[in-house]
Amino acid sequence: MIPFVDLKAQYASIKTEVNAAIQGVLDSCQFTLGSEVAKFEEEFAAYSGAKLGMGVNTGTSALHLALLAAGIGPGDEVITVPFTFVATVAAIHYTGAKPVLVDIDPRTFTMDPAGLEAAITSRTKAVIPVHLYGQTADMDPILAIARKHKLVVIEDACQAHGAEYKGRRAGSMGDMGCFSFYPGKNLGAYGEGGMVVTDNAEYARTVRMLRDWGAEKKYQHVLKGYNFRLEGLQGAVLRVKLRHLEAWTEARRAAAARYDRALAGSGVPTPEALPHNRHVYHIYAIRTAHRQAWMDALAAQGIQSGIHYPIPVHLLPAYADLGYKAGQFPHSERAANEVLSLPMFPELTAEQTTTVSAALRSLAAGKPAKVG
Ligand SMILES: Cc1ncc(COP(=O)(O)O)c(C=O)c1O
Repeated sequence: MIPFVDLKAQYASIKTEVNAAIQGVLDSCQFTLGSEVAKFEEEFAAYSGAKLGMGVNTGTSALHLALLAAGIGPGDEVITVPFTFVATVAAIHYTGAKPVLVDIDPRTFTMDPAGLEAAITSRTKAVIPVHLYGQTADMDPILAIARKHKLVVIEDACQAHGAEYKGRRAGSMGDMGCFSFYPGKNLGAYGEGGMVVTDNAEYARTVRMLRDWGAEKKYQHVLKGYNFRLEGLQGAVLRVKLRHLEAWTEARRAAAARYDRALAGSGVPTPEALPHNRHVYHIYAIRTAHRQAWMDALAAQGIQSGIHYPIPVHLLPAYADLGYKAGQFPHSERAANEVLSLPMFPELTAEQTTTVSAALRSLAAGKPAKVG
């Protein structure tokens, strides 16, 4: 049996450290925010190349509060992509602004900058490039277009902890960067978690207030805020795990390189990491026109796989009211039909990547991947 992710293997490797950190929080009783969260905020912001970090309860809340801190609200438009997890678009919706979607570059599965420029109107206030699967969007043209049109850039780096674009870290290139610490993420809590990072002290102050009931000081509610605080236990666990993140990221990259080599020449399209990018392989997605058959065949051999994501946001019933139709974002729609995520986690062994690759090679020999 080869799992899609193996959180148990990771816990086994850090059990002593994690258990001690959890015990420390139990002893201090700082269960919400507190000193472990404050230290983690400093450490993770520094890791991401930003000055300030604000821990929140989820990656979704990070996006939501970043948008609010940027002043986004009803009447505004925010541009993002349909080929993402639904949370990116949900966060825009929560502010009362209108999500406007543009297609992806099929090579990288991230925002096509040409589409961005074409979608800008007088109401556009912000853009959210999504660093999908652990590879950053093409940030230089996106930042240049945003600067020209005075748009706020909020990076959805929920899948891209430690990813780099021309030497700059994910989350540090736009005005704010948003991360998720959902358990299966490259840096995952033992529960939920998220963070906004920024160099801008004013955005930081607003996010800090909004996550804690809009209060500047206890019971002095300056803004209409939320209870989006990061828990102390999560801060403590995340501090321990952050110390291992670089080694884990390199292990993911090594596993991806093994897949790349083993699948070369098989006709199975493997993910393309652009040369100036440090891809951190949250997801390793191949493409095939026979996805269900391949998934079933892998499952029959004890190999788990996943789909990220089977339906682009513009075709989800929940967002039908955005008014988009099938066929409007062909690259996103084709990707949603063809992507297949292989097992990917730092502890994945060479034997496991060999087994998965051999299974795929024989599937491709019988039925070529034949993607669009
Ligand atoms: C691209 C993307 N954006 C946003 C989120 C939302 O993060 P969370 O699940 O922590 O709310 C996730 C993860 O689930 C994600 O993958």
